[in-house]
Amino acid sequence: MDHNLAAVSKVTVPWILERKLLAERISCLTAYDYPTARLVDEAGIDLILVGDSLGQVVLGYDSTVPVTVEEILHHLRAVRRATRRALLVADLPYGAYHVSDEKALEVAIRYVKEGGAEAVKLEGGRKRAAIIRRLVDAEVPVMAHIGLTPQSIHAMGGYRVQGRTLDSASELLADAEAVEEAGAFALVLEGIPRELSAIVTQRLRIPTLGIGAGPDCDGQILVFHDLVGLSFLPPAKFVRPYTDMAASLRQAFARFREDIIGGRFPDDSESYHWPVGLREEFERSSG
Ligand code: KIV
Repeated sequence: MDHNLAAVSKVTVPWILERKLLAERISCLTAYDYPTARLVDEAGIDLILVGDSLGQVVLGYDSTVPVTVEEILHHLRAVRRATRRALLVADLPYGAYHVSDEKALEVAIRYVKEGGAEAVKLEGGRKRAAIIRRLVDAEVPVMAHIGLTPQSIHAMGGYRVQGRTLDSASELLADAEAVEEAGAFALVLEGIPRELSAIVTQRLRIPTLGIGAGPDCDGQILVFHDLVGLSFLPPAKFVRPYTDMAASLRQAFARFREDIIGGRFPDDSESYHWPVGLREEFERSSG
């Protein structure tokens, strides 16, 4: 029996923090709708993120930048209805915490009250320390996110691995320490060299959750659609496609179409029937 599944019926923020002390790895996935969230939760994944990758993998935007608070909330509510065990975290999209700390707090409180989120995530290090403190003071647990932060695509000039030079590695370490100090309960490390995430993980008391950050983090997070082969892109180096749902769905849709055209769907066993004798009665009465 899996130790985590047996040990806890509801994942909480203290439980996530405790994994670090016990050196037990944390599993995390995104989910954006009821059926997916149900399956992810039932599989015993510890943390479900309603992330802003929603914009690309579900809504068809070409980056996470256009995603709105209302869009996250809509999907968050569906995921909430399906999630029993996992800790449910919702992303603050670009613009939701860049105008003022008060606006960020209003959005975070809406996520908790209207969407059932148990924590929020935001991108950035030292420059987000004040907002993290404000949210934590208002009882909203915060997961921070540094490294390759997709909301900064224009500032970064594209999606590039970060922390490859001594200077940028030191900046990222300072960012990691600042968000821990500000009260974040976990830190996503995205798109950074394995060597750097190992050092960050070793220096912090809060768990690190890696995506494209190597195996030495305290946990791992992937986007559901990448994991199951539904993102219509060649998988990034760090994505392990566990199944190819696009291929099985394509096959299913093609068979369905062929069966309709060939008159094989539906068959008699898939049809409703009159009770015995009703047909004769009908024909008599309708002349
Ligand atoms: O939105 C998202 O999917 C994320 C993960 C990449 C961590 O932020």
